[in-house]
Amino acid sequence: MQEITLHGSRILVGECAGELLRHLPDRRPIVITNPLVSSLYQGLFPTADVIKIGDGEAYKTLDTIDYIAGRLIEIGADRDSFILGIGGGVVCDVAGFAASIYMRGCPFGFVPTTLLAQVDASVGGKNGVNRGGFKNMLGAFNQPRVVLCDPLFLQTLPAGHYAAGFAEIVKAAMIADGALFEYLRENIDRARARDGKFLERVIRDSILIKARVVAEDERERGNRRLLNLGHTFAHAIEKRAALPHGQAVSVGVCIASRLSLHLGLMTGAEVQRVIELLALLGLPTTTDIPLRDLLAFARADKKKSGDALHLILPVGIGACEARLLSFAQLEELVDKLTE
Ligand code: NAD
Ligand code: GLY
Repeated sequence: MQEITLHGSRILVGECAGELLRHLPDRRPIVITNPLVSSLYQGLFPTADVIKIGDGEAYKTLDTIDYIAGRLIEIGADRDSFILGIGGGVVCDVAGFAASIYMRGCPFGFVPTTLLAQVDASVGGKNGVNRGGFKNMLGAFNQPRVVLCDPLFLQTLPAGHYAAGFAEIVKAAMIADGALFEYLRENIDRARARDGKFLERVIRDSILIKARVVAEDERERGNRRLLNLGHTFAHAIEKRAALPHGQAVSVGVCIASRLSLHLGLMTGAEVQRVIELLALLGLPTTTDIPLRDLLAFARADKKKSGDALHLILPVGIGACEARLLSFAQLEELVDKLTE
């Protein structure tokens, strides 16, 4: 088992699901999960009060936070209660936000059970809910005490949700680790076979990349923005095409790579390798939605800065840069791409 620390969070990667309690700071956590994860893994849960929320992005709302708050009051939770989110990114984002505001904040931790939540959503301290169709508009930065990432959970993930996690892994590799990108290319068969040792390595490497970035810029004033590679377009695609987050990120990474090609930051061969790898991992790489429409949506996204936004652009494979571009410049750029 590997241990990574980040701003007071202990992140364990490896076999730990069998002994969840041993790794928690509190042996009587209040568990937040959903009916599907509960039905699959109830046997692993500590004897605990369990709050079940609805399954899926549609439940990442203030109504769900209100429901959790009501249940916490019924249970008699106080500021010292330890809240444990067990589930995918939706459960982690919602449980982290509920814990951050219940009685002005109680300690919390996560057992992420999707690949995407293990490599991204459970790490780094961002939590929150959607509002009015826009992603993560309400939330907080607050670090979990402990995150337990066990590849065992990934054996029961449906194929699409399993593939979704690889979009964030490829994203991390493109931001900071060309060797991880190559390792993925060389081990496609192990990825498809859900090989435990392979998964442990790519989960650890992805978390290390994210942890290094977040350690220096927890509140996203600078380099943390790089973690948003592909996300400007992804959030729009997620809404317009009703694609899951990971699949939308995959398309967003491809669009960003094509923009980099146009700006001379990547070669055609590099862009091709990115598109090929994502496709081999079972991910979509294109969208029918016009790029102009995606930009119009991005205007309302929280990632914008006045009349401009920080567009994250790959520079080769293994490095990225943020460019502050006005919407007028962006429109000109995407128009050139579609000519
Ligand atoms: P999800 O939470 O909706 O989970 C996907 C599906 O898998 C759900 O139906 C869930 O019940 C099911 N599931 C969970 N674990 C399972 C298991 N072990 N076996 C079988 N089924 C299982 O989606 P996700 O992709 O995990 O997370 C996406 C969310 O994460 C989005 O809301 C996104 O915005 C958020 N996110 C947050 C951050 C962050 O930094 N906070 C980063 C990336 C993504
Ligand atoms: N998922 C982007 C971030 O955590 O900053």
